[in-house]
Order: sequence, then structure tokens, then C-alpha cells
Amino acid sequence: MIKPFLSILAACALLSPLGAAAQGKPVIKVETQGVQLVMKVGDNGRLYHSYLGPRLTHEGDLQHLPQGIEAYLTHGMEDYFEPALHVEHSDHNNTCELKYVSHDVTQLPDGATLTTINLADEVYPTRVKLLFTAYAQHDIIIESTEITNGEKQPVVLHKFASSLLNLDRSRYFLTEYSGDWASEVAMSETELNFGKKVLDTKLGSRHSMFLPSFFQLSLDALSTETQGEVLVGTLAWTGNFRFTFEVDQNGALRVLSGINPYFSQYTLKAGETFKTPDFIFTLSDSGRGKAARNFHSWARNYRLKDGNATRMTLLNNWEATYFDFNEERLVGLMDDAVKLGVDMFLLDDGWFGNKYPRSSDHQGLGDWQETASKLPHKLGYLCQKAREKGIKFGVWIEPEMVNPKSVLYETHPDWVIHLPNRKEYYFRNQLVLDLSNPKVQDHVFGVVDRLLTHYPEIAFFKWDCNSPVTNIWSEHLKEQPTHLYVDYVRGLYNVLERVKAKYPHVPMMLCSGGGGRIDYEALRYFTEFWPSDNTDPVERLYIQWGFSSVYPVKAQCAHVTTWNRTADIKFRVDVASMGKLGFDIKCADLKPDEEAFCRSAVENYNRMKPVILDGDQYRLVSPYDGRHASTMFVAPDKQRAVVFVFDVNPRYHEHLLPVKLQGLDPDRQYRVKETNVRGDRYAFDGRTYSGQYLMMVGLPLFSTRRGLTSHVIELEKLS
Ligand code: GLA
Repeated sequence: MIKPFLSILAACALLSPLGAAAQGKPVIKVETQGVQLVMKVGDNGRLYHSYLGPRLTHEGDLQHLPQGIEAYLTHGMEDYFEPALHVEHSDHNNTCELKYVSHDVTQLPDGATLTTINLADEVYPTRVKLLFTAYAQHDIIIESTEITNGEKQPVVLHKFASSLLNLDRSRYFLTEYSGDWASEVAMSETELNFGKKVLDTKLGSRHSMFLPSFFQLSLDALSTETQGEVLVGTLAWTGNFRFTFEVDQNGALRVLSGINPYFSQYTLKAGETFKTPDFIFTLSDSGRGKAARNFHSWARNYRLKDGNATRMTLLNNWEATYFDFNEERLVGLMDDAVKLGVDMFLLDDGWFGNKYPRSSDHQGLGDWQETASKLPHKLGYLCQKAREKGIKFGVWIEPEMVNPKSVLYETHPDWVIHLPNRKEYYFRNQLVLDLSNPKVQDHVFGVVDRLLTHYPEIAFFKWDCNSPVTNIWSEHLKEQPTHLYVDYVRGLYNVLERVKAKYPHVPMMLCSGGGGRIDYEALRYFTEFWPSDNTDPVERLYIQWGFSSVYPVKAQCAHVTTWNRTADIKFRVDVASMGKLGFDIKCADLKPDEEAFCRSAVENYNRMKPVILDGDQYRLVSPYDGRHASTMFVAPDKQRAVVFVFDVNPRYHEHLLPVKLQGLDPDRQYRVKETNVRGDRYAFDGRTYSGQYLMMVGLPLFSTRRGLTSHVIELEKLS
């Protein structure tokens, strides 16, 4: 949580609730360079959302804003729509009326501005703090809530949203990204009318298998990449989430975001405070592209683990071997890593378990000792081999999980989330360990700690999570069964916090059978994530596009594999080069010319990497437009840019327009140079254009000649 405070910019004296009304109704602004949220205290002393939109620059206008809808709606009062808070007091009265008490604004050490608004019930000692952290330059606002039980007895929270946003616009279009394993983040759009649309998950650990925890909301009209007002929001919580979009009888939209209250009633002891996760949002008045870039630059600077550091290219053995390997095969693959010129070899699943060797996904999970028959010289030998070959060594773990066929399960059945009196059912033949239990937290931390203590040369972890929470029952929480979903996540954060404290800069990939678990709280601890097990490059165009709505490509692992061999190696490599490049292939799967191409593409990638991973991303043509796609990256100083172009499925005689580039300096000349060349080059390769020409007229990037073709061009500013 945020640790304030450097200086108090403004502080309102603690007022009694009635005093607030009497002393001239405070107007509270939470603002960034381009976005403003204005809240007002009503005559009744309650807090209302008066405005959320592009920043109003004339201070005097704020007095004219209408009062609006209550800022943190409570159950049991006169507003009939979905509440943010539902508290059952110790006398079983379920109502709460929150009044403004005070607010203050402070500057945080990282430059953000924190606005804290204190609300309280006059009848019961329930206190609520609304916290808004504004990142001015990135137009990012984070809202979270703290709910304190001031009673002498426990109270029960039935609903406890992080945020309620109120909007009063003519129309609302919601974009969601639902999907499934290997078909993550498929984009679809719906107009919202009266009533509720709920986006939620009850999967627990693998929370976003069917739906990532983010959405886009176009206001008044449909938006495009460059036009329209769009609000993009995401919940930073590695567990069940719920977004409720409710249009009321007046056409106003209320957006409730938070932990999914499903089977999560939370008892707060006397004096205890419940802290909700962060709801992070931005608002763009010039389309979705800007909203995405707001998130990308904010994340690199403030949220993503080692967000400003570089990333390693790698060779992963999963698709090359699955569970079938021994030392010799692995060392052979390390040679492939050297041939390809990547930075690291990543050993995947299948290296552990002796009583139950992990020869398939049916057994061994939980027993983190090297399988003697496969790795007689243990991981130390592989570390040594990697060192000799001049590459780094990384390893796969899935420490939160257990196969029933494992020594861990046999020894500690009480550490497992499962039902004591029913037959177990499995997701991928495994069960989830009960991270609400501190002993289990110690065990999970110990998996990482022991590996790094024995083998300090381990330079990377791929941390997997292949099962949702199933068979929901915790021996540890048998008195409070509805705390499990929440306390599981808190337990996970305890473990990750300990790992980060002891090993602050070991890079880690967040994986969950593909993209089943990605959010901005987890990304405090992970340098990158695995978006999908689907590495078909055509599918990846869509999946990487979807995730880039809120996550920077620096965090998105993209590997070249043998999926979709109808696509040339160039197409596969070019798609993967739009993210954090890796390979999951053996050189034996490549012809000599393909291998040579990969090697030179890695060299090119290393040159372009600072622009791709740290530049501004402009999504020029969406794969959802049907036949072609293009994305470009521009270095922050606009000296260099890289453009990726894909002809996926062109039509005969299709009318193709030049593609207008974005983000360049209009008054400078750029030399255009094609890279990753394999076959035809563009006719304009080597020419020089002004940034203005490239952005106003554009370049004929697309072709109708053949499907599954691609180009990469680098732009360099002259003088
Ligand atoms: C998950 C991951 C894969 C691989 C396997 C190993 O499915 O997404 O990349 O690591 O587990 O079992």
C-alpha cells in the first residue's frame, strides 16, 4: 500500500458531518493533465460525483456543475441501484449512510498526488476512506477504499467495491475481452442500455482465464484508435473481480469495480480495516490508442516490476520437448539458444519429482527436487553448462499447486484446498494449495528461496498457475469459509512480497496456462507475462492486440514456435518481435536458411528493442479490421521508430490505402529502412520522407499479392 506523505498541499480541518454542510460545501478535485473527477458535498453532508471527463480549465465553472450521484453508494438508503458498500452491523442492521468528514491532498514521493476523503456514518461507527492517486503526466487515476469497523463487535462486509464511477452521457459502448484457454482476450462491443451488465470471475487463482480484468468504455459515441472519448479501467487484484455497469432510469451509468463479493462475505473484527484493491483508470479524449499509451507509460514507470530495465530474449524447451528430456537434450537445446543468439535458456515443466516423477501432468507437482533419472547432476549442472555457453539459465515452477499423486499431498493434505467429505475433482489433474494458511505461504516462499539458495545462478523464473480454485474448502479457514477467495490472494501477495524483498531483481514471468492470470497488482512482482499458450502467429496478432489495450508490450512474452507452419518463419518471428521476443522451438525444426534468418532477426531485435519495449505504441490497423494489421513503436525522443506490417488474408483487387503513421516529428526527415528482410523488399526502402508526409499521406504498406506476409521497417530521423 502507498506510504504517504511528503507534504500536505491542502488539508481541510476535521469537520463534524453537519459542519461540512454548514461551512460551505467542499468541492474536491482529483485531476491529471487531461482528466478531472470533481466531487461535491451536498446540503445533506453526503459526497457526490459531479463530473468525470476531460479537465475543465476554468476554475470558476466548477460551481455550476450539477450535484450528480452519490460517490460511494451504500446499501439501504434511498438510491435503488447497485451499492458500493453493504455492511451488516453487529446488531444486524444492514444500512449505512456515509457523510463527508474531511479530505486532504498530499504529494507522494513518486510525484503522484493522493487525495484522501474521509466519510463516516453518524449512527454506527463505520468509517470509509476513499483514496485517489493521480499520475498527472500519464492521465492515470487509481481509486481504492478503506473500510473500518469502529464497533466493539465484528461486522460483516457483504459488498466492498474499490470504486464507483458515475457518468452521465448520451450513449455507452462497452468493449470486453472475453475468451478461454488458447483464445484469450477476444474483443467484442455492446451498447449499454437500462439495467446491468456484469463482467466477473469466480475462478480464484486462475482468475482471468475467461475474461481479463479490464474493459474499455466509449462515451457518447463509438471510439476508434484515434477518435472519441474512452474510459479504460482495470482492477489490480489477482483473484475474483467484478465490474458492474448499470444504466439507471435517467440514462446515467454507474461503473462499480472491485473484488467479486461472490462467496466472499468478510467479517471485520473490532477496529479492523478492510483495504480494497486498486481500480486503475484513464480517460482519453482522442481514442483508444492514447488510453493504451497512458497505461503503458504509467506501468513502465510506476507499476511493472523493473519497468525501466531491459528484458532478456530466451529459448524455452516446453514445445521442443514437453516432459520428455534428459540432461543431454537440454544441453543440446542450450546450444540452439547460442545458435539463435538469445540471452537465456528456460527449463520448463518436468524437471522434478522422484517418488512420482513429473513425466506427465498427472503427478509430481509439489515435489520440487530434481528427478534423478532425468537430471542426475541436478540443476547445478545445467547452470554450469549455461554459464560455459555464455547464456543465462531460468526455470519453471508452479509452487501454489499440487498433484494428488505427490509426496506433498501425502504429507500435508490439510494444506490443500479440497472438500473433506466429497470426491475431489481436478482441473489439469491438480489442486490448489491453501495460501490463506501461513504455513503454506512459508512452503511456497521456500520453493523459490531454496532454489535460489542452492543455485544462485538461476536468473529467471516462469511462475505458472494452471488451475482455478476448485473444491472450495479451507481447513485453515473453517470458521470463516467465505474469507478464502480474499485471503488466498493476500497470502499470495505475502509470498511475492517476501520473494521480492529477498531477491529484488530476479525477473519472473507470470503464466497461468497461458494468459489466465494477469493484473497490475501481480505485475508489481513480475517483469512479464505469458499471454497465451496459443502461439499461432495469426492468433497472436489478435491476442497481443487485446492485451496491449492496457499492458505494455515490454511485459508481453511472444515466442516463435511451430504453431501454424503455413506461416513462413519470417511471419512468425515478426509477430513475436512485437513483444518480448523468445523461441520455443528446436533448431532441428528449422531449415538452415530459417535458422540463419532467426539469428539475424534476434540481432535486429536487439537493436530495435529499446524502441519496441520502451517506445510509444501506435496501433495503426487492427487485425479485427479483417485482412491486414499494423503497429508501430516510436522512441520517446522521436529519433527512431519501428513499424510492423502484416498482410494476413488479402482479397483480390482489394482497394488498399496508404497507412498513415503516427507519433513522428512532422518537421524532421526520416530514412525508411526495411529490416528482417526475407524475399521482397518495399519499393520505397531506403527513401527519405518528412514526418509530416508519413503521417498525413502515409506509405503503401499493404499488398494484395499473398497472405501471411509481413514487413518490418525502421525509421531513423536524419540530423
Ligand atoms: C502451462 C503453460 C505452458 C507450459 C505448461 C507446462 O500450460 O502455459 O507454457 O509451461 O504449463 O506444464
